[in-house]
Amino acid sequence: MNRPASARIIGTGMYVPARVMTNDDFAHIVETNDAWIAQRTGMKERRIAERGQAASDLAVEACRAAMKDAGIGPDQVDLVICATITADNTLPSTACWIQERLGCKRAGAFDLTAACSGHLYALAQARAAILSGQARTVLVVSTEVLSSITDYTDRSTCVLFGDGAGAAVVQASDLPETGIIYTTLYADGSGGALMILPAGGSRRPPSHETIDQRLHYMNIRGREVFKFAVLKMEELIDECLRACSLTVREVRLVIPHQVNVRIIDAATGRMGFPPEKVFVNIHKYGNTGGASVAIAHDEARRQGLLNTGDVAVLIAFGGGLTWAGAVVRH
Ligand code: ACO
Repeated sequence: MNRPASARIIGTGMYVPARVMTNDDFAHIVETNDAWIAQRTGMKERRIAERGQAASDLAVEACRAAMKDAGIGPDQVDLVICATITADNTLPSTACWIQERLGCKRAGAFDLTAACSGHLYALAQARAAILSGQARTVLVVSTEVLSSITDYTDRSTCVLFGDGAGAAVVQASDLPETGIIYTTLYADGSGGALMILPAGGSRRPPSHETIDQRLHYMNIRGREVFKFAVLKMEELIDECLRACSLTVREVRLVIPHQVNVRIIDAATGRMGFPPEKVFVNIHKYGNTGGASVAIAHDEARRQGLLNTGDVAVLIAFGGGLTWAGAVVRH
């Protein structure tokens, strides 16, 4: 079998639920206000799924948009990779629900868990599968219903998260030096407790006690994560530039995980990127976990910010701890 020269992103899509939750809405349920949230995070509103609306429901819509953008049908998909920490079920995988709903009858399907770094981990796996000749067309979708694991009595975390999904169609290409030209993945499990869903897994299966103690909601030590996030985002940008011999001038856009505008500004500013080269949509969607970079990438493309030949550096960090980067030449 001939190995392709590259793995290109030939289509992207996104979907967010219709329901909007503004900063002011939070002021009715916890002791907070619009000014605090906006100044400390950059967030103004986020989308919240309806009760019963699962990660695969959001993902299917994002995938349909990406497949339409790419001009491919379900029979062309060889592999579905779904990045999520809010799977519909622990068994079966959310990727299998998506594969069935889309009618990707020839495709393999699996879930991947890397929290907010999920989309970049998934793009790296898609690229590897394509460059090794295992797959020709891979559907990558990152989807989160974070509202299902958010404690709406905890003001320090509940304001941060939103729901949404973003997808990308990655396909083998004979054009060299194009598409996803670089990926890098990291993890440090010693920081696992900094962002954790304490119960519901095999360590602490669900019980009346775990429910009463609200252990099925995310527990996040945000202040401790903050410095780590700035440092890792900075290191990722630096590594991506060096590995691909790129200068700041040659990069059209940095697309960071939409975690906190202060983290984004600090990391990209220190690396010499002016604000117009940094894509931010955190004010509209909050932190959508693994979906965040996927949604931002799709919006950037649809806003005409990424044309043929333009280079984007995608970076994210999240629970695990995990952090990851990718360089995409469009
Ligand atoms: N409204 C009003 N006051 C608040 C709120 C709120 N929603 N939340 C916290 N406060 C208070 C705190 O109680 C504290 O009060 P105190 O000084 O009397 O103790 C004060 O505001 C300052 O709190 P800090 O935690 O120091 O605020 P900080 O400026 O660090 O911002 C934030 C907090 C936004 C969480 C920030 O640390 C952050 O963005 N951290 C990293 C983000 C993160 O971890 N995101 C989750 C990643 S996991 C994932 O993506 C799935």
